[in-house]
Amino acid sequence: TYDYALDRDCTTLSRHILEQLQSFGPDAQDLSALMTRIGLAGKLIARRLSRADLVEGALGFTGDTNVQGEEVKKMDIYANEVFIAVFKQSGLVCQLASEEMEKPYYIPENCPIGRYALLYDPIDGSSNVDINLNVGSIFSIRQQTGEDPDQNGANLLQDGHQQLAAGYILYGPSVVLVYSIGKGVHAFTLDPSLGEFILSSESIQVPKHGPVYSVNEGNFWQWDEALRDFTRYVHRHEGYTARYSGALVGDFHRILLQGGVFIYPGTVEKPDGKLRLLYESAPLAFLLEQAGGAASTGKHPLLDVVPDYLHARTPLIIGSTEDVALVKSFIDERV
Ligand code: AHG
Ligand code: MN
Ligand code: MN
Ligand code: MN
Repeated sequence: TYDYALDRDCTTLSRHILEQLQSFGPDAQDLSALMTRIGLAGKLIARRLSRADLVEGALGFTGDTNVQGEEVKKMDIYANEVFIAVFKQSGLVCQLASEEMEKPYYIPENCPIGRYALLYDPIDGSSNVDINLNVGSIFSIRQQTGEDPDQNGANLLQDGHQQLAAGYILYGPSVVLVYSIGKGVHAFTLDPSLGEFILSSESIQVPKHGPVYSVNEGNFWQWDEALRDFTRYVHRHEGYTARYSGALVGDFHRILLQGGVFIYPGTVEKPDGKLRLLYESAPLAFLLEQAGGAASTGKHPLLDVVPDYLHARTPLIIGSTEDVALVKSFIDERV
């Protein structure tokens, strides 16, 4: 039996968007349809993940290397294709760009009418897939504008303020979809028995500071001294706790709800860090600003950054405003 309060108002994802967008005109229908489609992609991916150990060919590597130079997991490809399949039928999306595809995927039959581009990280945290730990999917929706003569995504090289909507799906003990269309940040939990994402937290605000710092300290000697200063500071002062899961979506979700800061800085090997601006950092920065938090590269507000190519990376410092400011203060001291 399910113990929802009988008077609980079960707000589904699509209804929630329509309610938020009542004054938006034609975009309201479109965004609602797009978010419903993202929900469907999330359900399909969650279904495969939920029994991955039992499904032939669900786990492990494909043997290929992607444009990021990473070894590709079978689940990365599956999830990448799920998004394509789901949006082929939507009519609304002309162009999809993903971490797992060197060039954008065009749906020519949608392009005359498809007014939107979808940018996504199909599986975030893929190193967690084979060990049954949390992973996610990250998405960003932009207006389809500009020319892309070489079909390499030249028209997508825009700053993060241009996002119409962004969010993620966290495949954890519950499947949770968090999104913003620029009107706050809202979370929905998948009720598998209904097959619906039901509103679970509305208008989430990130605490002004938090107990958590989240960074891969295995790279300590590859960082700038400023970040080592910050780390020494938190080691010496009470009240901080380290958490790092290997999946940005999971670490981000913790910080969204409880406060703190996530950092993926530049390293000796990767001067711009690891995280991709268009599929990872910018969507989460859009969300967090909507939740009253902050995101920076260390030099610039994250949402101001215009990438110079589709798969560009940026250092990322994201979280509670006071914690982001603290990290920044160590950086500014060393400049
Ligand atoms: P992805 O699985 O999409 O390639 O992303 C992995 C990212 C991110 O989820 C995580 O925060 C980070 O890589 C972990 O990288 P390190 O192992 O270098 O810390
Ligand atoms: Mn990857
Ligand atoms: Mn990722
Ligand atoms: Mn990924």
